[in-house]
Amino acid sequence: MKALVYGGPGQRSWTEVPDPRVQDPKDVVIRVDAVTICGTDLHILGGDVPEVTPGRILGHEAVGTVVEAGAGVSALAVGDRVLASCISACGVCRFCREGSYGQCLGGGGWILGHTVDGVQAEYARIPFADLSTYKLPASVTDEAAVLLADILPTSYEVGVLNGGVRPGDTVVVVGAGPIGLAAILGARLFSPAHIVAVDKAQSRLQAAKLFGADTTVMADDDPLAAVRSLTGGLGADVVMEAVGTPETFELCTSLVRPGGRVANIGVHGKPATLHLEDLWIRNVTITTGLVDTYSTPKLLGMLVAGQLDTGHMVTHRFPLEEIMQAYDAFSRPAQTGALKVVLTR
Ligand SMILES: NC(=O)c1ccc[n+]([C@@H]2O[C@H](COP(=O)([O-])OP(=O)(O)OC[C@H]3O[C@@H](n4cnc5c(N)ncnc54)[C@H](O)[C@@H]3O)[C@@H](O)[C@H]2O)c1
Ligand SMILES: [Zn+2]
Ligand SMILES: [Zn+2]
Repeated sequence: MKALVYGGPGQRSWTEVPDPRVQDPKDVVIRVDAVTICGTDLHILGGDVPEVTPGRILGHEAVGTVVEAGAGVSALAVGDRVLASCISACGVCRFCREGSYGQCLGGGGWILGHTVDGVQAEYARIPFADLSTYKLPASVTDEAAVLLADILPTSYEVGVLNGGVRPGDTVVVVGAGPIGLAAILGARLFSPAHIVAVDKAQSRLQAAKLFGADTTVMADDDPLAAVRSLTGGLGADVVMEAVGTPETFELCTSLVRPGGRVANIGVHGKPATLHLEDLWIRNVTITTGLVDTYSTPKLLGMLVAGQLDTGHMVTHRFPLEEIMQAYDAFSRPAQTGALKVVLTR
């Protein structure tokens, strides 16, 4: 089969590799029907994720059809259409038993396209298949479903739920990439009074309006003044960090009101300063998190019910064999306007 193979920092190729096989009784093999590229794949190609070694097939967000099932798989059969989630779960370790699948100690967690071969390929092996896939109803399109593999649960769990968004809140989302935009969608479910999006790119702020932000601010203008003027000088109830830089994290802690909550979603590669000299007196809660995907069934239910409007998220579509061009488009969003790119066979 063909797959997108990591060759070391800056190197990727769409190349012939051996077909995946069931290696463990709990595995299935899927034919990949739709797959997408994540900002994290760009971090890997940038050399920021050293556990990913050359030769690894990338990708952790796909929809596929089961073509082979191990003897220990009980909930799936050949022919089932499934979502392959970015998080795999052994189901028996202490963290899995609490629903913290991202922290799995039994060989799960974020493994696809990281420590085992991923799903940017014609076929993929999915470990712990019963607990790491979700059967899809026919009414959910591949394109909508693939967004459930990572960005929708990440922004909902690590941003909206950790941030504790409540009706009437003023919510600020710093960073309006796919994750920040999905956080806006998730926040809307709780009827906040205001959603403020902050970004450096005008195109991303335009997208934020489409997703439901009522106020947009360029990062280089004065986000603090904008948030203060909306909140009678107090600051925001909930601020979500969806970039992953020291500056944006520090901005988030300056935008929050006393007693408010900062939910960090961004992946950070450098230390950020925690300004305890200002924060200690303000009763602020700061949360961090890797997605667990415990919310995936609920989000799938909302998609089925038409309560999550993902229609603006996929901007580019390619056949699977054009994945090299899809990477090019996805990695230059300022020029291409790309949010999510979806590849189908
Ligand atoms: N916690 C998790 O489980 C998890 C899961 C997936 C992704 N992530 C992380 O979430 C973050 C966002 O992901 P994404 O795919 O949306 O990334 P992205 O790169 O597409 O979007 C980031 C956005 O931030 C904006 N930006 C950059 N610098 C800024 C600044 N100084 N001020 C304001 N905006 C700025 C960019 O213009 C862009 O629109 C990344 O760090 C990603 O690695 C976390
Ligand atoms: Zn991802
Ligand atoms: Zn586990």
